[in-house]
Amino acid sequence: MGYKVAVVGATGAVGREMLTTLAERNFPADEVVALASGRSAGGEVSYGEDRTVVVQDLSKYDFTGTDIALFSAGGDVSKEYAPKAGKAGCVVIDNSSAFRMDPDVPLVVPEVNPDALARYGRKNIIANPNCSTAQMVVALKPLHDAFGIKRVVVSTYQSVSGAGKEGMDELFNQTRAVYVNDPVEKEKFTKQIAFNVIPHIDVFMDDGFTKEEWKMTVETKKILDPDIDVVAQCVRVPVFIGHSEAVFIETKKPIDEKSARAAMEGFPGLVIIDHRADEGYVSPVECAGEDPVYVSRIRKDPTVKNGLVFWCVADNLRKGAALNAVQIAEELVARHLKKAA
Ligand code: A2P
Repeated sequence: MGYKVAVVGATGAVGREMLTTLAERNFPADEVVALASGRSAGGEVSYGEDRTVVVQDLSKYDFTGTDIALFSAGGDVSKEYAPKAGKAGCVVIDNSSAFRMDPDVPLVVPEVNPDALARYGRKNIIANPNCSTAQMVVALKPLHDAFGIKRVVVSTYQSVSGAGKEGMDELFNQTRAVYVNDPVEKEKFTKQIAFNVIPHIDVFMDDGFTKEEWKMTVETKKILDPDIDVVAQCVRVPVFIGHSEAVFIETKKPIDEKSARAAMEGFPGLVIIDHRADEGYVSPVECAGEDPVYVSRIRKDPTVKNGLVFWCVADNLRKGAALNAVQIAEELVARHLKKAA
C-alpha cells in the first residue's frame, strides 16, 4: 500500500514543482492532497501530466492519517501548522527556514547527510535547506571528503523564483513596463529587478550581513561540518529560474583542478560541464527543469596556498526546494517509514 502525501502551498512556485516531482519520480503515493489558503480552495492544480487535484483549505485540514506533508507556504504557515501535523503523526518535510536551525530538526540534503534523518522523530519535522545552500553543499561534499575544506567564499546570483510566484510576476511585469514605457512598480523586491541586480535577499542583520547570507553560513555548518567557515554575498538577478554561485574554497590538503575534478566526478546529483570554450559551461537558463547541480569553470586559485574556484548552477525550485524535499521523502520510504495510524 502506498502513502498519503500532502503538499502545503500547492498553488505556489515550489508547491507546484513538488507535485510535478512527486508524479515524475513515481513516488509511491496512493493519495495526494493539495493544500493552500482559503483563497485557493476549490481550484485545481496539476499532478503530473494527466491528473489534477482539487485544492483544500489548510486551516480546515486534519493531518491525522496523512503520512508525509511537504510544506512550502512560508515560515509563518510552517510555524503554525508543521508542529500540529507532526503531533498528528504526519512527517513534515519543511521548505521554510522556520525549523532549520532547531537542534531537534534534521537539516538534510540526501546526497550529503542522509544519516541525519535518524533524528527526525523528536518533532516529526525534517527541514529542507535554503536553496543556495542545498546546491552548494552537493558540490562541496566530495571536495570536503577528499581535501578538507577550511573556508568558503561565495557570491550568489539568485533567480526571482526564489521569492515565489509573486517574484516571477514582478520581473515579468517590470520588464514589460520598461519596454512600453509604463511606470515600474515594485512590491516584492526592494529595488527594480528588471534590468538590474539587487545585493539584498531577506532582512538585514546587526552585523551587516543579510539573513540569506547568514543562512548559507550556518546551514552549511549544520549539514556538512561545523568547522567550515563560510562568508557569502547573496544577490538577486533578473533570471526566472536557476541560481548560480561563484564559489572560492580553501582546503587543508593541496588541491588543483585535476584532483578536484576527479573527486567530484560521479558524485550523486553532481554533473561537471567544463570545456573552457564558448558554451562549455552551464548558465541558469539551461538548468531550469533539470535535477542535477552543475559545476563549471573549475580552476586553481593562485592567491591562497590550497585554493580552488568554481561556478555552480542548479534549478532552485528543484534541487533547491521541491526535488530535495521529495528525495528526503524517498529516503524515508527506503528507511521503511511506518504508515500513519
Ligand atoms: P495561495 O495561492 O492560496 O495564497 P509562493 O511561494 O509561490 O508565493 O507560494 C506560496 C504558497 O503558500 C501558495 O500556495 C499560497 O497559497 C500558500 N499560502 C500562503 N499563505 C497561506 C496560508 N495562510 N495558508 C495556507 N497556504 C498559504
